[in-house]
Amino acid sequence: MIAEELLPWYDRHARELPWRLSPRQKRANPEILFADPYRVWLSEIMLQQTTVATVKGYYEKFLTSWPTVQDLAKEELDSVLSAWAGLGYYARARNLHKCAKVIAEELGGVFPDTEEALLKLPGVGPYTAAAIAAIAFGRSAVVVDGNVERVIARYYALEDPLPGVKSEMKKFAQKETPIDRAGDYAQAMMDLGATICTPRSPGCVICPIQVVCLARKSGIAEALPKKAPK
Ligand code: ADE
Repeated sequence: MIAEELLPWYDRHARELPWRLSPRQKRANPEILFADPYRVWLSEIMLQQTTVATVKGYYEKFLTSWPTVQDLAKEELDSVLSAWAGLGYYARARNLHKCAKVIAEELGGVFPDTEEALLKLPGVGPYTAAAIAAIAFGRSAVVVDGNVERVIARYYALEDPLPGVKSEMKKFAQKETPIDRAGDYAQAMMDLGATICTPRSPGCVICPIQVVCLARKSGIAEALPKKAPK
C-alpha cells in the first residue's frame, strides 16, 4: 500500500498551500478535519489547467474579494471575468460564477458532499468531483490526475503506454485509495508527483515510497509512464 509510506511523509513534508489547513490551524483546531468546501472547490477549479505557482496569487485575490460562495454568487459576471484575467480558459470562470449561483440560490449555500451530486454542478467533472469529495468531505473518492497516473504507473511498473492502461490504472488507483484520510492521500500523491516523482529525473533516492516501488526496483522509473506512439 502506497498510503502506508506516503501519509507519514505527508504529515512531515506537505507543501503549505493557501487552500490547505496550515499546520498551525491543525494544531490550534484539531477538531477541524477538512478545509472549507468553498476554498477547496475554488482551488480545484483554478488548478484544473493552471500551475500551483500561478494559482496562489489569484486564489488569495478571489478569497479577499469574495470570502464566501454567497459573495461570489452576488457579484457581476464581468467582475469575476476581470479578476480571472490571466488564468486563461475563461469557460472555467463562467462556470465558476454559474456554480456559485446554484450553490447560493438553489442549495442554500451548502456544497453537496457526494461525488455524484458534485458532478452535477457547472464546471465540475469527474476529477474535480472526486477531489472535492475527498479533500473537503473525507470521502474515499478515487482522485486521478496526471501526477497520480505517473506515480501509479511507476509503483506498479506498468510498461504499456498510458492511454491503453487506463482501466488498469483506475483499478490500481482505487485499490490504493485509503478509506481514511483519502483527501490527505490525494494531496500527498499530488505533492509527490510535483516534487519527487517528477516526469524527468525523478528523485527516487529521497522518495518516501522507494522501497515499495517496482519501477525503482528495476531502475526504470524515468522511462515510465510510456506514451503511445503517435
Ligand atoms: N493540483 C490540483 N489540486 C491540488 C491540490 N489540492 N494541491 C496541490 N496541487 C493540486
